[in-house]
Amino acid sequence: MTGRLIPREAGIHPPLFTPTYKTSVLRSPERALIAFDSSPSEETGPTFGHVKLGALDNDLLLNYARPGTSAIGERIIVHGRLLDENNRPIPNALIEIWQANAGGRYRHKKDGYLAALDPDFGGCGRTITGADGSYAFRTVKPGAYPWPNGPNEWRPAHIHFSIFGHSFGQRLISQMYFEGDPLIARCPIAQTIPDKAALDRLVAALDMSETKPMDAIAYRFDIVLRGHRQTHFENRPEGM
Ligand SMILES: [Fe+2]
Repeated sequence: MTGRLIPREAGIHPPLFTPTYKTSVLRSPERALIAFDSSPSEETGPTFGHVKLGALDNDLLLNYARPGTSAIGERIIVHGRLLDENNRPIPNALIEIWQANAGGRYRHKKDGYLAALDPDFGGCGRTITGADGSYAFRTVKPGAYPWPNGPNEWRPAHIHFSIFGHSFGQRLISQMYFEGDPLIARCPIAQTIPDKAALDRLVAALDMSETKPMDAIAYRFDIVLRGHRQTHFENRPEGM
């Protein structure tokens, strides 16, 4: 249990009305929000039972691939730790990810981008954090993809994250970007975050210490639920 939750810091989150991100306008509130103190229903539950995970659930290179094959693309490891506002690890938390394939195409019926689907890549994974809050996925680096927000706009490579902490108050849905991607500075979604330090916390760093020679490049992405060093919450995942 986390105890009383620290209120979110409004200043590091995007303004609720961000017309540069066109599809967010209709879902932005028209009236000022009303703040309530957290109560036991947000602070202590609900929690999930022990989820039975498959052996390959955190291995997107293999979990959709036909026998003897693996997903096409730059092989990467995404790993880090899940922490709370007091820098304590959060064990036994469910982390789910979804992403486009190496060409920037989602396996989704509404994704009509002309990049090819990879028959050996599904794009979804999940894992449970360890006793020290650690987690890791193997996957391919997702491609950038265009989206109809303006005449020529491209999402930076990103992986969507969903995290169930130990209470509803810790629920987090966010996106992870990759160090050095020039599209981050041009992305209307990423740039809705007014605090540069907060945006930087959504960028995974190249991690040569965990990179596997002749196998996969590692990126480190630590996640903090609630509090001063909180990883940015989105109002809503952008969806694709
Ligand atoms: Fe996306």
